[in-house]
Amino acid sequence: MNAPAPPFTRTRDPRDLRRSLSHFPTGVTVVTARGRGGAPIGVTVSSFNAVSLEPPLILWSLALSAASLAEFRAADFFAVNVLSDIQSDLPRIFSSPVAERFAGLDWREGIGGAPVLSDSAAVFECRAYARYDGGDHENILGEVLQHDRREAAPLVFAKGRLSTLQEPEG
Ligand SMILES: Cc1cc2nc3c(=O)[nH]c(=O)nc-3n(C[C@H](O)[C@H](O)[C@H](O)COP(=O)(O)O)c2cc1C
Repeated sequence: MNAPAPPFTRTRDPRDLRRSLSHFPTGVTVVTARGRGGAPIGVTVSSFNAVSLEPPLILWSLALSAASLAEFRAADFFAVNVLSDIQSDLPRIFSSPVAERFAGLDWREGIGGAPVLSDSAAVFECRAYARYDGGDHENILGEVLQHDRREAAPLVFAKGRLSTLQEPEG
């Protein structure tokens, strides 16, 4: 008797793969840069990850379908803003077709003009180091030139929902 076939079908449906991947909790970031015309650009990104300490490298990936792909390909510098619990309205703003994503936001110019968002839990200001093929995404490695952090609870994204990390008391 042959053993029953394993349920390979799960891996063939991209939406189902996305659902399984969503069980891996991540933080949420807004990656920012200056567009070619000088305007600030930014997208909500949960694919941010640490790569290397020496040299200091981080990674994120941008969908080839993103409207800002050409702008980010042209940007030599970008900033990864790790969102805190008081920035919970930003993931929606930076992932939807809002005309002016930076309207009403408090930010300053970082290295290369990349916007550094106030109230972020941490910020990594980067020089574009390498870009790799990543299927339907482009993997972008950044060399961290400067970084900063503050005492703030980071936002957490899991199973399609935002939440905050409960700090242990005491
Ligand atoms: C929580 C969250 C995480 C996301 N992570 C990513 C990501 O890692 N890479 C990506 O390309 N898009 C990601 N997106 C989707 C983009 O933010 C969204 O497609 C955005 O509109 C792209 O901007 P653009 O089309 O103006 O370039 C995420 C959206 C949300 C809400």
